[in-house]
Amino acid sequence: MRKPLVAGNWKMNKTVDKATLLVADMLPGLEAVKTVDRVICPPFTSLMVASGMLAGTEVGLGAQNMHWEESGAFTGDISPQMVKEFCEFVIIGHSERRAYFNETDETVNKKVKAAFEAGLTPIVCVGESLEQYEAGKTEAIVTAQVKADFEGIDKHDAERLIVAYEPIWAIGTGKTATAEQANDIIKNAVRKNLTTQFGEQTAQMIRILYGGSVKAHNAKELFDMSDIDGGLIGGASLKPEDFVKIVEAAA
Ligand code: PGA
Repeated sequence: MRKPLVAGNWKMNKTVDKATLLVADMLPGLEAVKTVDRVICPPFTSLMVASGMLAGTEVGLGAQNMHWEESGAFTGDISPQMVKEFCEFVIIGHSERRAYFNETDETVNKKVKAAFEAGLTPIVCVGESLEQYEAGKTEAIVTAQVKADFEGIDKHDAERLIVAYEPIWAIGTGKTATAEQANDIIKNAVRKNLTTQFGEQTAQMIRILYGGSVKAHNAKELFDMSDIDGGLIGGASLKPEDFVKIVEAAA
């Protein structure tokens, strides 16, 4: 049985003072839902203060990106070891990074390997664009991403892997894939390829989230599907009441 996981991706929102208030607002509600793994991913600048607030709770902390190198001349970037000082999780390959910051399957693959090496749990995003979706290429695109992103990953590391299937056309748009559509891609493109790469037993252990306009009103329907193990939540994770409801929907 895979334990559901719900992660909040705050993106480039909240200064430290506002992040502090937001964590304080949602923490009691999040702490109460023990049957779900709960993770928040604030911007880098708030990780230190958030890690202090989450110490002694079961709520996990994640970063939204990192470099794959340990250190060096990479102005403006942050290393796996720096993330590890405060976090257990790191989001890798979010579609916004792929679209605006030249993230490719090759760099995603390097980052996934570096995350495991640093003892971090990567939450790796895959998903197709609107154009690819309309052209009926979803399965082919997601299959190619899964193959390339996880190439050469150790089977034992893969047991800890978390994948988020996020159709790009559903992110921040208010449009969601239907629960059946999302489950179908997760099952027949994501988990099927994970099975080819890592074997049935490992693939069954990997948690696969759905992301893209998950809200309090549609979360339960999505999370009730056989292969959806939780969600990666953007906009709604900035609203404490909504985020707690979404976490409760995964219980
Ligand atoms: P959204 O974002 O929930 O605002 O659509 C999801 C994500 O970008 O991970």
